Parts: sequence; structure tokens; C-alpha cells
Amino acid sequence: MMPLRTWLLALASFSFTLVSAAAHSFENTAIVRTVDLGGSLVHVTTTYAIRALENDATQYVVSIGEEESRSVSWFEAKLKGQSEPLTFFNGPLEPHHGTYSYTVDLPKPLSVNGTVNLVVETVLTHTTYPWPEKATQENDQALKYEGDLLVLSLYKTTTQRIKVRAPAPRIISYTTPEGLDAFATDNLATQAGATITYGPFANIPPSASAEFIKQHQKHIVVHYHYAAPVVEITSLRRSAEISHWGANLNVQNDMVLRNAGPALKGHFARIVHQSQTYFNRIPPHVIPSLTFHLPPGIHSVYYYDLNGNVSTSRLRAAPSVPKAAESKQHSLLELRPRYPLMGGWNYSFTLGWDSPLADSAGYDARTGAYIVGIPVQTVIPGAVVDQAELKVILPEGATDIDVFPPFAPITQHRSTHVTYLDSIGRPAVTLSFENLTDKHSGLIYVTYKVPLSAHLQKPKVVSVAFVTLFLVAFLARRIDLTLSK
Ligand SMILES: *[C@@H]1O[C@H](CO)[C@@H](O)[C@H](O)[C@H]1NC(C)=O
Ligand SMILES: *[C@@H]1O[C@H](CO)[C@@H](O)[C@H](O)[C@H]1NC(C)=O
Ligand SMILES: *[C@@H]1O[C@H](CO)[C@@H](O)[C@H](O)[C@H]1NC(C)=O
Ligand SMILES: *[C@@H]1O[C@H](CO)[C@@H](O)[C@H](O)[C@H]1NC(C)=O
Repeated sequence: MMPLRTWLLALASFSFTLVSAAAHSFENTAIVRTVDLGGSLVHVTTTYAIRALENDATQYVVSIGEEESRSVSWFEAKLKGQSEPLTFFNGPLEPHHGTYSYTVDLPKPLSVNGTVNLVVETVLTHTTYPWPEKATQENDQALKYEGDLLVLSLYKTTTQRIKVRAPAPRIISYTTPEGLDAFATDNLATQAGATITYGPFANIPPSASAEFIKQHQKHIVVHYHYAAPVVEITSLRRSAEISHWGANLNVQNDMVLRNAGPALKGHFARIVHQSQTYFNRIPPHVIPSLTFHLPPGIHSVYYYDLNGNVSTSRLRAAPSVPKAAESKQHSLLELRPRYPLMGGWNYSFTLGWDSPLADSAGYDARTGAYIVGIPVQTVIPGAVVDQAELKVILPEGATDIDVFPPFAPITQHRSTHVTYLDSIGRPAVTLSFENLTDKHSGLIYVTYKVPLSAHLQKPKVVSVAFVTLFLVAFLARRIDLTLSK
């Protein structure tokens, strides 16, 4: 029998090799990060030039600091120059590292000194805010971005550089970090045009540790002009109703939109707005209209808000195509609310349309199943959707329902939806999401079967309704006749 002490030692060395395998199998020969500043979304691209220090190195750990990870709502890793995303899993917060880890599977094991370039894209939400917080109708719009400076890693890094790119060279101020002399080789921060470059920083030891973060991680703030509206969808409730009977797909969106630009200082003055409209000088935090890219082939578009029908929308519908949601073509809808949306204002409205079911649905004769693809959201470039709920309502009597979301929902549940002329109600699937970005453009696929009896259900209900009506009329006439006699 193994004495307890030896056993404990064996266990300790086992866990030590596990940790050290993760910590020592790579080094970063160079890291370059580009932070593209936007409105409610900030896109971050980090390229890791990595070198294996062990044979059979297949799993590379990308570390993201605790603070930053709270804003990460999209993560994707690829090999440089390739379009296929690599598989990964993300672990829980590791308290003694102060980081979340995303473990990426390399397509081929690297042997010692084998190199590869890994490109990691993340999208951050809610990392900017208007500054000043308030603006008049005549003022410009400026935002502040706040975030961490250094790219953290479990591995030693030979050199890293961070570029922060504003949409225009109009940068008001930026942080020059202090106390990084140990790693700085040249300039700490330099601005050229719209780009601020931090570093290069050299010979950084493994930095995914609470201790390193406490000692060396820097917080930076960049204050920049932003010439486009800052739009947030605080809530999107989409319902997609499939009707085989009418060969129709109805999509309805109940949305709450927020102009996340600087809040309006003082009162809204229509005269100022009219003169700005006339001279085409409307500042970005005043939103007179919104443009949506909707699927091709849609018709019967409706748009109303809390006060009723809004008729000032313009639709340029693209012709119907199969697989409409994946098509590059789109219908263009310009919505013009009753009044321009000023900074800080919320706007609730409903937007819906119909489209031929054949544009989004297919039938697999081999399995006897239907498949329908429905976009999770209508992407508004640069906008975040804080809360989204998608309800797919299937035909009455549908069975064998399977749902394939393009990314993991937060919740998913089934229910029954009953409408006009339904007998047993329609099965419905509801999924909820948070913090959707312009990368979350995928389709949710739903497969199901409709037994013949269910197909006949609707005509049956309709004919029963007709027969009843006929009988009532008939009886009424008879009664009528009897009375008149
Ligand atoms: C890996 O590269 C280092 C430094 O370039 C070299 O000293 C070492 O011999 C190489 N190892 C192998 C197995 O090629
Ligand atoms: C809304 O307006 C459109 C066109 O202006 C009209 O066709 C539709 O019937 C109206 N709907 C309601 C509910 O008033
Ligand atoms: C808009 O909605 C947000 C919550 O989504 C709320 O905090 C804010 O006060 C609202 N703004 C106005 C002007 O009602
Ligand atoms: C969405 O973002 C908010 C605010 O940044 C955050 O509190 C929340 O945890 C995020 N939700 C998810 C699922 O990441």
C-alpha cells in the first residue's frame, strides 16, 4: 500500500505538471493588438505569433483580464490567413490568475520551435460613454473609451504593441501610462493620425497572474470625436411565425432603441433642427431616421409606435430569392420616427413584415422534415442589443422539433401559442440572448415534421367553421320561416 505522504507527493507533482504544461509549452514571440474604437461596440483584434517549447503542443490559452472579460460578448480565434474559426472552450475565472482563459485547439500539433500566427477577435460592449455627458443641439459628440492596456498571457512574451484606432484623427486626449519603464524599449505612447501606438514593450514575463496585474497592468482612457449615432437596442423581442397554410413567414420585432449619445442639454428646439436639416449639419447625437437592412422578398411591412401607425417610412424591397436570410441582397427600409431622437432618449416601436415561406424553408423528402432558417436579429451596424428574445412559432401539430442556434442562448424554452382558427395551438420555441453585436448575425435553424393529419387540421377547422355558420344560417332561416308563418 502506498504511504499517504508518497501519494500526496505524487498528486502534487501531477498537478504541478498539469499547470506547468499549460504555462510552459509556448512563448509569444510577438503580440500585436488593434483596438478599433466605435460607438457601443469596440472591435479588438490580437495577433499572437507563438512558438512551441514542447512537442505535441495543441492547446494554446488566451487570457483575458477579469475586468475586460465582463465586456467581451464575442470571441473568435483563427489561424492567420484562414477563414475557418478554431474550436475553443472558455474556463471560469481563475482567481489566482485574475483572468478568464479561452483554450484554443490548434489544428495541428506543433513540435518544439514550431510557429504559428493566431488571430483572436473579440467584440467589447459598453466600454465607451459620451463625454461631456450632455450636449446642446449645436454641440459635437465625443466619447471616452476605457480599458486595460497590456495583453495578458500565461506565456512569456518577447515583444508586444497595442494600437488604439479612433474612427477619425480627432482625438482629444489619451492616457500616457507610467511605471512601465521595465518593459518599454522606446516610446510609451505616440499618436499618428487616428492611431495611438503603445509600446513596443519587451521581455514581459508570464502576465496572467493576479500579482502581475496588480503591479503592471495599466488602465487607459481615450477621448475621441465620434461622427455617427451611438445606438443601443435595449430590448428586442422578435417573433417569427411559420404558416404552411398561407406559405408565409411573418417576422415581428418589438424594439426599444436608445440614443446612447450625450443627453440633450436644455429643450429640443425645432427651429434649430430645421435649420440644421436645411444646411445638412445635423450632429450625430440627433437621429432623424434609421435605416434597416431587411431580407429580400419581404412585403406588407408595418411600423407603428406607442401613438399608432407611422406612415413616414420608405421601403426599397429587393426581389424574393431562396435562402433570403443568407443572401447578400437586402431590402432597405428607412424609418422616420415622428420626432428626431435626441441623446438619452428611448424609442419603443414595432416593425414587422411578411415574406414567402419558400425563401427561408426547405423540405427534406428523405427524412420528411422541414427546415427553416431565421435570423436571430436584424443587425444594425455598430449597435449592441442588450436583451434579445426570439420566439419561433411553428405550424399547428408540428412534431420532432429540433433547434440549432448559431451561438449559445442564455435560456431556451417551449410553449404553446394559440391564435385565430387554431384548435390545439402551435408549438413555439423561445430563446433569449444578451449583448448581441454585429458579429452575431447567424441564423437559427429549426427542423420539424408536420403529420398529414395536422396539415388537414386547418382545413378541418375552417370547414367546421363554415358548416357551423351554414347550419346557424339555415336554422335561423328555418326559425325565421316558422315565426313568419
Ligand atoms: C529551438 O530553437 C532554439 C533557439 O533558436 C535552439 O537553441 C534549439 O536547439 C531549437 N530546438 C530544436 C529541437 O530545434
Ligand atoms: C398603417 O398605414 C398603412 C399605410 O400608410 C396602411 O396601409 C395601414 O392600413 C395602416 N394600419 C393601421 C392599423 O392603421
Ligand atoms: C431610457 O431607458 C433606460 C433603461 O433602459 C433608462 O435608464 C433611462 O432613464 C431611459 N431614458 C429616458 C429619457 O426615459
Ligand atoms: C451583458 O453586458 C452587461 C453589461 O456590460 C453585463 O452585466 C452582463 O453580464 C452581460 N451578459 C452576458 C451574458 O455576458
